[in-house]
Amino acid sequence: MRLGILISGRGSNFEAIANAIARGKLEAEIAIVISNRANAPGLEIARQRGIPMRVIASAGIEREAYDKLLIEELETHQVDLVCLAGFMRMLSASVIRAFPNRVLNIHPSLLPAFSGLDAQRQAIEFGVKIAGCTVHFVDEFLDSGPIILQAAVPVLEGDTLEALSARILAQEHVIYPKAIGYIVDGRVTVEGRRVMVREEE
Ligand code: GRF
Repeated sequence: MRLGILISGRGSNFEAIANAIARGKLEAEIAIVISNRANAPGLEIARQRGIPMRVIASAGIEREAYDKLLIEELETHQVDLVCLAGFMRMLSASVIRAFPNRVLNIHPSLLPAFSGLDAQRQAIEFGVKIAGCTVHFVDEFLDSGPIILQAAVPVLEGDTLEALSARILAQEHVIYPKAIGYIVDGRVTVEGRRVMVREEE
């Protein structure tokens, strides 16, 4: 399965996916990494590993026009599965239509709690005792598609934003490659909001 990974920044989830592939734990190939920001540090990870990458700058471009460019690039690289990994832009319905049930996202909260920006900060400010992360299918709405996998972590007394974010991120790096593996292995079916994952054979 050919993955298209969309990033805007650090790229640590992209790196975790690339590591899982390199270690033979995920049978997939990263066909292209696309960043909407030219200065995304994640691009350097792609460069060092010789993974094809492309900047499609989004500043000043309307959503539909931008998404058309994205779709073209993804199709050029024959991408089967689109993985948003810290991609800080909403996608329009055209991308979802071009890749039905084939766009994934990772979000640093236990959805549906704390969607949107600064999820870890929202969790601390709300005072929850359990936080976590979610891999879900992407639909046209923010952080709202069917959930494939979640991991929970404790919020400790005296946690700083950095400490909680790091604890969540470590779990992101586990569940994102795992969820992609479920799809690569054809084990996933979606019924409405519910995602079923068949047992491994
Ligand atoms: C992660 O916390 C992810 O859950 C969120 O954006 C952040 C991206 O981090 N969507 P990275 O670029 O993968 O390091």
